[in-house]
Amino acid sequence: MIENNIGERLQKVIAQAGIASRRHAEQMILEGRVQVNGKKITSLGTKVQPEDKIAVDGRVLKQKKEENVYFLLNKPTGYITSATDPRGRKTVLDLMKDVKARIYPVGRLDYDTSGLLVLTNDGELAHRLMHPSFGVEKTYRVSVKGNVPSEAIDRLRKGVILEDGKTAPAKVRILTRQSQGSLQQLEITIHEGRNRQVRRMFDKIGFPVVALERIRFGPIILSSDLKIGNYRAMTANEIRLLKASVKL
Ligand code: URA
Repeated sequence: MIENNIGERLQKVIAQAGIASRRHAEQMILEGRVQVNGKKITSLGTKVQPEDKIAVDGRVLKQKKEENVYFLLNKPTGYITSATDPRGRKTVLDLMKDVKARIYPVGRLDYDTSGLLVLTNDGELAHRLMHPSFGVEKTYRVSVKGNVPSEAIDRLRKGVILEDGKTAPAKVRILTRQSQGSLQQLEITIHEGRNRQVRRMFDKIGFPVVALERIRFGPIILSSDLKIGNYRAMTANEIRLLKASVKL
């Protein structure tokens, strides 16, 4: 049972189990008749996972499991990755209105970042992919003004000190040198998932990021046939690889 984006609303799960309508399920929660893992729940914001034990009036309920679905989206800039935004900005789910399952993005990409995003309703997989202990690698294509000197690249490789601590060693590769009117492009691979990490790392070495695109997430590579703003279901092989990368 968790209080974040992952999982299904308790009242929905009760309704799906066929015990009551969603409205009636809400009422039962407010009346204190519902327990999750032995704890009485009276708030409607609670989300549950398939493994949670839900009881209504003391009777344990059989959760009907929604089929797991897995998607890849090539996120454009100008979209946020949370499910809702108090500031009314567009979210990545606005690009996926045809998907009926209750999917959510795995990890976050900034409003100004484009590229590969995995979305699923598989809570266990999402949890593992985001958990630092699995160290899932993410690769980004970074554009900066000017040519980053090799000493500065070495600093990224060794780890730079940010306000939330030193970054783990990153893999960095130069893709292009700056020429007249163009930016330098580099590739950086990190396995931590700190907020705005790549931007902050490049700020630290004095080369603010001009454009940022994620091109790899664990074993999944963004291919050129997935156009920006488009999404597709992951293949069975991609799902297998992604699960295997976090020992599932
Ligand atoms: N690092 C960033 O700075 N931004 C992202 O969106 C992803 C990684």
